[in-house]
Amino acid sequence: HAPLRVALVGLGTVGGGVIRLLETNGDLIARRAGCPIQIVAISARDRSKDRGVDLSPYEWVDDMTTLAARDDVDVVVELIGGADGPALTLARQCLNAGKPFVTANKAMLAHHGLDLARLAETGGIALKYEAAVAGGIPVIKGMREGAAANEISRVYGILNGTCNYILTTMEKEGRSFDDVLKEAQDLGFAEADPGIDIDGVDAAHKLSILASLAFGTELDFDAVATTGIRHVIAADIAEAAALGYRIRLVGMAQNAPDDGPDGGLFQRVHPMLVPLDHPLAHVDGSLNAVVAEGNFVGRLFFQGRGAGDGPTASAVVADLIDVARDEYGDAFAMPVAALAPHKTANAGAR
Ligand code: NDP
Ligand code: HSE
Repeated sequence: HAPLRVALVGLGTVGGGVIRLLETNGDLIARRAGCPIQIVAISARDRSKDRGVDLSPYEWVDDMTTLAARDDVDVVVELIGGADGPALTLARQCLNAGKPFVTANKAMLAHHGLDLARLAETGGIALKYEAAVAGGIPVIKGMREGAAANEISRVYGILNGTCNYILTTMEKEGRSFDDVLKEAQDLGFAEADPGIDIDGVDAAHKLSILASLAFGTELDFDAVATTGIRHVIAADIAEAAALGYRIRLVGMAQNAPDDGPDGGLFQRVHPMLVPLDHPLAHVDGSLNAVVAEGNFVGRLFFQGRGAGDGPTASAVVADLIDVARDEYGDAFAMPVAALAPHKTANAGAR
């Protein structure tokens, strides 16, 4: 079969990982995809930067806005980041032009996901984002497809690798917050602006996406009540341990039981005391975990590496395999018009 021709925009931690993964596992991926997946064009800001991978086989494109119209590009992968700016421009251009689009950009999805999903729906093309939530864990597929037949009562978990790495390394190694944050940045876990991680915003982006999938409601990032870990100190962690708990940054979305004025979807992200006998207390380092409770499936527990080049590239390439197989559906599991309006139980909490 003819190769799936990919334009890769963004060549940082995740973009570099995608190149290495396709080079290392190319034959296996081709058998699974039904055709080779071949990068034909690449783009980033600085052409001269040494990225530790050989870029000579690929065509460098200075102006990424030309990619949407190119007939020799079958799919565009966006790994730049940022809710707005060039990532959003590229997404709109591609989806308007009928070009399948793969992204790891949860900030953009949290703010513009429904609009982008509408564009994809109108064109009948793929908008895929497995890497946007919980890195290498196939939780989008799990919620969108595996648990699709269930009424979900609650979805929650550890959704930010940087924060989990900081909290667990501070606890185990007694190191300072700033020292461990620096290490998380060096390891490629943190966002370009690490404030987005430590203030809980990244976890809130991911929670709003998960909640939309889990509850079949319109995505509403602004309704997530968010507190990060910036003010957690070693003494807090020690005090929690003395009481039999661990501190974890947890994102949780649940249907408020009352269907009256206080009913609706309650979404929040904040540091929580997790008892030692709960599995989330044992999710360490850059691992993420997502728990979903469904009325027929019961409790699902997904765990794996939530950040870093390898796990995230794994999710991006899984999306490319779906595009190659022509296996995709509505981005948020149903047409946007079928999503219930978001009724928040914590209005104005942000
Ligand atoms: P990096 O900061 O490592 O890489 C970003 C890349 O985008 C760089 O190659 C950069 O170019 C390029 N870029 C930035 N701004 C522009 C611009 N204006 N025009 C063109 N290119 C630009 O980010 P990551 O690889 O870590 O993250 C990429 C995306 O993946 C983000 O949306 C992030 O949230 C998401 N993600 C990241 C994970 C991780 O573990 N790192 C996990 C899951 C999702 P240059 O190199 O030339 O400066
Ligand atoms: N900065 C994010 C994190 C990357 O630490 O979880 C993965 O989405």
